[in-house]
Amino acid sequence: MAKSEIISCIDVGTTKVCSIMANAGHGGSLQVLGVGVTHTRGLHKGLVVNITEARESIRASVRRAEQASGLKMESVYVGVTGRHITSLNKKGVVSISRGDRLVRPDDLKRVLRSARTFTVPTDRKLLHVIPRGYALDGQVGVKNPVGMHGFRLDVETHVITAAVTSVQNLVKCIRGANIDIEDLVLEPLASAEAVLRPDERDAGVILADIGGGTTDIAIFKNGSIWHTAILPVAGYQITRDIAIGLGLPFDVAEQMKRKYGSVMHVYDGAEEEATNLSMENGYGISYQDLNEIVRARVEEILKLIALELPSDYLKEVPAGLVLTGGTANLRGIETLGQELLGLPVRVGVPTGVYGIADILPDPAYATGVGLLLWGIRRHDGEQNWQASGLGETVRRLVVRMRKLVLH
Ligand SMILES: Nc1ncnc2c1ncn2[C@@H]1O[C@H](COP(=O)(O)OP(=O)(O)OP(=O)(O)O)[C@@H](O)[C@H]1O
Ligand SMILES: [Mg+2]
Repeated sequence: MAKSEIISCIDVGTTKVCSIMANAGHGGSLQVLGVGVTHTRGLHKGLVVNITEARESIRASVRRAEQASGLKMESVYVGVTGRHITSLNKKGVVSISRGDRLVRPDDLKRVLRSARTFTVPTDRKLLHVIPRGYALDGQVGVKNPVGMHGFRLDVETHVITAAVTSVQNLVKCIRGANIDIEDLVLEPLASAEAVLRPDERDAGVILADIGGGTTDIAIFKNGSIWHTAILPVAGYQITRDIAIGLGLPFDVAEQMKRKYGSVMHVYDGAEEEATNLSMENGYGISYQDLNEIVRARVEEILKLIALELPSDYLKEVPAGLVLTGGTANLRGIETLGQELLGLPVRVGVPTGVYGIADILPDPAYATGVGLLLWGIRRHDGEQNWQASGLGETVRRLVVRMRKLVLH
């Protein structure tokens, strides 16, 4: 970015709404000015099921971020998730017919347009068309063909669509809180921005954000997105298993999980704690019982993540699995993942944010921080685009069209 400017996001999760306002400085640095987190109401498995409740949760979260920053939140980057998301890979091709055969930024836009000539059904909304890689005169693996010479430019893209109605409900809640939407971003792509290193994306890596209602997956290879998927199982199911299995109220099961939850077989605490756990409110359970339940569900989730890749493809992701989302806080999850998948597994914590950011270095905030980073990157892209000669008028037109589409 040329100079610092305010950037904001809202991550409307199944269990929490997180609004962040930050100053975006040079080189993608983020100085957090205000964070507002509230308990979510009106969402189920990442989807709005009660507009009034969801809007109120969003309002409360935004108000807290505004109070902390002393600024008004005007427009935001918003995360989208849910089972309605689908993704596929599409190709496009154009010829470079000018005399010098030099690929210009305009040709990139043309080839991307050619990759999106398919008809999007009226009940679907196009969220992203992300270039995965280019080929110039048949030579594949070209990352940025601008400035190179060739006759034929091919592109392979990753296309992500969402159900119009689900997106409309989310948009309605945000607009109902008097906030404009800059862009909608698929949540695992945002989480990936916050925690993945370029070398991991190059080698091949799976990002899985295990939240409250959904497990959001993005797989990267050769530096580009390869596959995305949303699974409708996450932390909520773990808590429900504990509640049903041990006969506890849901809230108590949730507290037990957060306080004592682990996927390890053996408890490393004191002997008496190893068998009996109790809460202040009088509920008591056995540590082994609790964590057998937790472990069983986490094993299932980890196996489902691995199933997004055909089994012989696991070797295509040598950088392994990076876990985000609140459920990644469960003790022992890295070790269990390594045992089950035979891959390196690490928990991804957003770093590199400063300011009033005390709670953000937690895997649950990867999506929120990633939304801001996504926004900065896109803003920088638009700046480059302006520098390439397309000018402010076209940019404004595109921004206005995007806002119309989001209405
Ligand atoms: N320390 C902890 N140990 C175990 N589980 C935890 C811990 N902290 C949070 N969780 C679980 O993480 C889940 C919430 O994660 P997160 O905040 O990433 O979800 P969300 O963004 O609200 O939901 P989603 O992204 O699925 O719509 C809850 O199920 C919660 O129980
Ligand atoms: Mg989430």
